[in-house]
Amino acid sequence: MIENHKNNKHPKVLLAIFALGMITDSFNRIHNYLRISLTDRCNLRCFYCMPEEGVDLIEKAHIMTLEEIVGIVKVYQKLGVDTVRLTGGEPLVRKNVDFLVKELAALGLTLKLTTNGILLDKYLDLFEEIGLKKINISLDSLDKNKAAFITKRDYFDRIMQNIDLALDKGMDVKLNIVIIKGVNDVELLDFIRLTQKQKITVKFIEFMPFKGNQWDWSKGVSQQEILDKAQQEFGALEVLDNPKHSTSVNFKIKNALGSFGIISTITHPFCSECNRIRLTADGKMKNCLFANKEVDILTAYRKGEGIEDLILESIKQKKYSRDGMELKMDAKKYENNRSMISIGG
Ligand code: 5AD
Ligand code: SF4
Repeated sequence: MIENHKNNKHPKVLLAIFALGMITDSFNRIHNYLRISLTDRCNLRCFYCMPEEGVDLIEKAHIMTLEEIVGIVKVYQKLGVDTVRLTGGEPLVRKNVDFLVKELAALGLTLKLTTNGILLDKYLDLFEEIGLKKINISLDSLDKNKAAFITKRDYFDRIMQNIDLALDKGMDVKLNIVIIKGVNDVELLDFIRLTQKQKITVKFIEFMPFKGNQWDWSKGVSQQEILDKAQQEFGALEVLDNPKHSTSVNFKIKNALGSFGIISTITHPFCSECNRIRLTADGKMKNCLFANKEVDILTAYRKGEGIEDLILESIKQKKYSRDGMELKMDAKKYENNRSMISIGG
């Protein structure tokens, strides 16, 4: 009898019970994936990320120490977070990042990394040892000169070598490409060709607006345009299964070892299943990449106040999609947001 009674419970009620004490927003989305920016510093200057005029770097005293990060992550973990992505700026320029990675791995979390690849060789053995396998590497051009134009620095050869090293180690490597008209859109097919002979994923990201990056959608390349070009060249594409919280649609060209995906934040936002939250390097919780509002977790943590309620209250403010931003994006609104370099990709 009791069993029957349980089985008859409405799915929404069951969900509410399951979600108790978890980071659940007002749309019943459970947030188990935390992206942490370890620093707002970077050894590159990608124009779509770093404003021309530079950014005011966060004062060191306001940056979370590595011990504070571990302590704060433990609270998020208690509230159901099981996956952590380390981002930046460039996370690997953070001093003693190896200590942090070991500590977080010891907590039993799934760790992921987004990096520009410049310093990757120094850490690959450690990542292998602790099981950090999922590595996203930004690479916006396969042409050395163009890469230097985009990043304003000349590290192309080193990055390419490190991509090979990571692949040789059997890492799950994804290349992030912000695709921009008149800059790197002509390389679209070359990037997809990389997947023919290598077990690699390339992810095209629609150009997104952030403070000071001179965004204008006429510079953007849409998911549909990318697919049309790919189909014209390679014929019918195999559509891959989409994991529930995936932010991309994924495809394979015929007989390829790898695959490619499109993150179409602008033309096809994937917000309905969002399970992500962010923590900036100065310990502010952001419910969404586009959210102007931030909740100061670090200050409370430093005062020894509990942060669980702050986190659970913050998530209730989360909007359904892109912080309520419309497709005809309102320039004033995103000018209040941070630039990407200080949010963390
Ligand atoms: N639009 C889209 N993606 C961006 N990234 C940074 N700035 C932008 C932008 N304006 C992505 C880069 C990098 C990650 C850190 O964030 O692809 O891989
Ligand atoms: Fe640095 Fe990444 Fe921003 Fe480029 S996109 S400037 S590599 S943080």
